[in-house]
Order: sequence, then C-alpha cells, then structure tokens
Amino acid sequence: MNILAGNRKVAIIGAGFVGASIAYALTLRNIARDIVLIDIDAKKAAGEALDIQHGIPYMGKSAVRAGDYSDCKDCDLIVITAGRGRRPGESRLQLMQDNSRIMRNVVDNIQKHYTRSVILVVSNPADILTYLCDKWMGLENGMVFGTGCVLDSSRLVRCVADYVKLSTEVVKGTIVGEHGDSQIPIWSRLAIAGVPMEEYCENVGLAWGHAEKDTIADRVKTMGAEIIAAKGKTHYGIATCVGSLADAVLNQRLTIASVSTTLQGEYGVCDVALSIPSIIGVNGVERRLEENWDTDELSAFRQSAITLKNKIDELGNI
Ligand code: 2OP
Repeated sequence: MNILAGNRKVAIIGAGFVGASIAYALTLRNIARDIVLIDIDAKKAAGEALDIQHGIPYMGKSAVRAGDYSDCKDCDLIVITAGRGRRPGESRLQLMQDNSRIMRNVVDNIQKHYTRSVILVVSNPADILTYLCDKWMGLENGMVFGTGCVLDSSRLVRCVADYVKLSTEVVKGTIVGEHGDSQIPIWSRLAIAGVPMEEYCENVGLAWGHAEKDTIADRVKTMGAEIIAAKGKTHYGIATCVGSLADAVLNQRLTIASVSTTLQGEYGVCDVALSIPSIIGVNGVERRLEENWDTDELSAFRQSAITLKNKIDELGNI
C-alpha cells in the first residue's frame, strides 16, 4: 500500500474513553491528517472530536472529527474499540458474548465501505475479537491484528525497570499468549541493555529467582484489574500503545511488538489469535517471529492457545 506522507486517514470505531484517548494520542503524535471518531452515540463522538480539536493549534495538523462508517473508505488504519469494558472483578474473557456480537455488527458495517486499511482490534477479549474480526473480514493474514500483549509487555518493562532501578529504555521484555490471565512472561529473553536478566542481577547483587518473577508476573497480570478497581476503566496505557503501533503502520517505521494475530503454525499453534513478537509495518503484521523459548514457556503458550480455542468454541456460530 502506497501511503503519501501527511494524508493518512484513521477511523476509530468507538468513541468511549479508549477510543477518545487513542484519537488524542494520535493527534499528539501528529501521524494522521484525518482522524474520524465513529460511535453509535454520534453526539458523544462529536463532543470528543471537538474537545481534542481545541488543542490542535498547539500540537500539529490532524483534523479530528466525528463521522460514520462511510468514513472507513480510503482509510490507512481502522482501530476498533467498540464494546463494553470490564466491570470491577470481571475477567476480559467474560466480555466475549457481548463484545463478539458488537464485533459482528462492526465488521458488517466496515465491509460496506472497506477499501484497503489495516485493522487494529483493541476491544476485549482482544485475542478472541481479533480472531473473529480476521475471520469475518477475510483479508490477507496480518492485515487484521490486535493490541494483544503489547500493553502487558509495556507493563512488564515498567515493573522490571522499577525493580532494577533503571529507566525503561534499557529493559527489553515480552509477554506472549493471551492478553489476559493465561499470559506468559518470556523470562528467558528478558534483558537489561542486552545483558540477560539473570547475569545482570548477579553482576549487581540483585536477587532474581522464582519469588521475584512471580511477584512481577502477578503485578503485570492484575494491573488492568487494579486500575479498573481504582478508576473504573483503563485507557491511557492502551492509547499510548496504539499510538506506537499506528506509527509503525502509518509511517512505515517497522517495529517489533507482541501483538495478536491468527497464528498459522508458529510454535505448533494455528487457527487461534495470540500474541507473539511480530514485525509491524504498512501491511499490519508483516512477519511473526519464532524464538527459542524455554520448554515451560512453550508449554504454557500452547496451554493458552487451548484455553482460547475452547472459549471460541463456546461461541458457536454467531
Ligand atoms: C488493559 O489491560 C485495556 O485490557 C486493557 O488495560
């Protein structure tokens, strides 16, 4: 897809806290000429767009406006945030029935106007909705992908950086699998400025064993629920992650992130969407990467696949 600099168009389906925060994050990054907020509550979408627009004279050239599904035509990126959020104490998988029906309606409407865009699924449960959106859109593999574990990986980096008391830039860490309770931290690949975590901690006299890993893994896994319990929703963290992914797609700044796509045999898994490190560019996920994980990491990943496949089977034909 040939994107001329500066005239990129993004449609955001869903103008709730997540969708509006994403519109704001994209505006701040000045990476799209036209940002359209689409919501069944047109008044809400218009209000969010107006609110963001009033700051634009100080932050770039995007035009942020409310629109409808006809604005999906000639988009370079369509971001789907439609669906209800988790209530305190609810798991993301418990949203599946409600949000799958909403996703069906969203895909039907996008298809009426779709021309060429990459589609990024944010709504939860992110992996199941990515799988369904990918199946229903019927595009080339990779053109539909989900934020998946990119936010979890960001949270892991934050927690490890706090533990080693260094800035996040020097920490490289990845969470794979489900954006949810069966997610897997890939400890074997965690590094501080390229030095394996085990070796780094030994050098500086920091403990790094099961206790420390379990503490950080639990903190990452429950971070979303913790924020929801405190403020009722999460939206800034995911919006920042979408901004980074959008930069890779719209500016062709190829990056690697743990995002969710329908796997085609990677790690022995197929026909389910899960997050693994992937190269992201103008065509969405351009390539998925297979790394040498530890045997326990690999078996946990395959277990995550079984968990999600069983959930998808519960849906039947919707
Ligand atoms: C989170 O973990 C939105 O599911 C996302 O905050």
